[in-house]
Amino acid sequence: MQTTNASQAEFRAAREPTGPEPVSLWRVLRGHRADPLVRWTDIREAHGDVAHYRFATRDTYFISSADGVRRVLQDNAANYTKQHPSYRMLRRLLGNGLLTSEGSFWLRQRRLAQPAFHKGRLGAMASAMTAAALELSDSWERAAGEPLPMAREMSKLTLQVVGDALFGAELADKAAPVARAWEVLGAQLAERFAKMRLLPPILPTAYDRAFREARRTLFRVVDEIIASKRARVGRSDDLLSMFMEARDEDTGERMSDEQLRDEVVTMLLAGHETTAVGLTWAWARLDAHPDAARELHAEVDRVLGGRPPSVADLAELTYTRAVISETLRLHPPAYIINRHVLEDDVICGHRVGAGGSIVISPLVMHRHPAYWERPAAFDPRRWLDAEAEKRRPRFAYIPFSAGPRQCIGNHFSMMEATLVLASLAQRFSPELVVPSLPATEYAVLARPAGEVRMRIRRRSPARAGATARESAEAPA
Ligand code: HEM
Repeated sequence: MQTTNASQAEFRAAREPTGPEPVSLWRVLRGHRADPLVRWTDIREAHGDVAHYRFATRDTYFISSADGVRRVLQDNAANYTKQHPSYRMLRRLLGNGLLTSEGSFWLRQRRLAQPAFHKGRLGAMASAMTAAALELSDSWERAAGEPLPMAREMSKLTLQVVGDALFGAELADKAAPVARAWEVLGAQLAERFAKMRLLPPILPTAYDRAFREARRTLFRVVDEIIASKRARVGRSDDLLSMFMEARDEDTGERMSDEQLRDEVVTMLLAGHETTAVGLTWAWARLDAHPDAARELHAEVDRVLGGRPPSVADLAELTYTRAVISETLRLHPPAYIINRHVLEDDVICGHRVGAGGSIVISPLVMHRHPAYWERPAAFDPRRWLDAEAEKRRPRFAYIPFSAGPRQCIGNHFSMMEATLVLASLAQRFSPELVVPSLPATEYAVLARPAGEVRMRIRRRSPARAGATARESAEAPA
């Protein structure tokens, strides 16, 4: 990929962006962090499309206009790389997979993986998604009336789906150790990023040991998936098999086991918690917005009439999909997109200097008043208005990022979330035990704080037209 940087004359003629006070290295090391939504919204309001401030030792450019986002993620993407400290850390800790790799190596891996996510092939994965939702539905049937930790329920489900759909491997019995390992890794990654702990986890402290143990568990599970795939007789055409079969065009070599492991770990991690967090927010929002729940129930009852959804129903489950889109607008799990500035450039008339960091936040883009009417309102109906969608700049809605490095799993994830929501909303209307929207915890992902305990209420088909809370039957 070629850069299309501004010339030095254009750079000199451009404006120096303004910005807030620097954030000292000392503050960063102590882990001090303001609420990102509040802080970044303030920055956008005070300084416009491109703001500049020092964050610890780095010049940081906060970009908050659709044109600016387009420049970074698409038009001049080659100048905005993943040589950013956060990605360097991720690479060192979890390997060089599709999410963290760069250059010609990344391009080769992306081309290898892309066919597995082709729309035509996703249809075949729908049955794994619905099957996992039905299994969960049966366990919810048994737990009706009880409060369950929704974040965990969704995480178990999405891990199983990624395992079944992409690796053809039964992950169900390994889900618990992976989930436990991810809890440690996710929490530590968030803390290590926030406090800029750049040292690898090599010390004999309990903290570093916990990280190493969790990583070992994850790697062991992944090695088992790879080994069981190798042992299986006959060919299959899932993602892992594609990676295993692929040969380098120049050398004819296959991917090493270590590289395979890096790719599988990447897919497991990038592909399950993100969707799980999105679905957890969707359930919380549906309980908080009975009108939306009523409309969702009416749609699933009308379109499905009690049977499980299939890929053929997706075209008609428009409101269900809109609930997901709207949830990802207000609660984008990947709330920060970082890049490293390779060379001087100009973004929206402002200088952006080589060696700096770019920060783009879907949180801020998705609530930008220039692009959204009533930005803070949860209103799935906005996604049914084709005219409004046409008017909105493409780069104002970026839950999956955009450009060449956009999420490879975006269609997979939208399909999964729609099928899961449709399957479960036919029978249940979960209710928050603490009846208010959870606070947001900004870790690696922007997730609802705590376990999000929700009481599993069965819906009464006879009263499907009533609101979520009204239509819920008494606990079994
Ligand atoms: C709601 C669910 C999801 C969200 C919000 C999400 C978000 C994102 C974002 C924002 C990126 C770009 C990161 C960056 O470049 O800085 C990304 C990349 C990626 N995502 Fe997702 N994702 C989701 C689901 C999935 C799923 C289901 C999979 C796989 C099954 C997946 C696999 C990946 C991979 C491999 C990349 C790296 C792509 C590349 O650089 O070529 N994601 N995702």
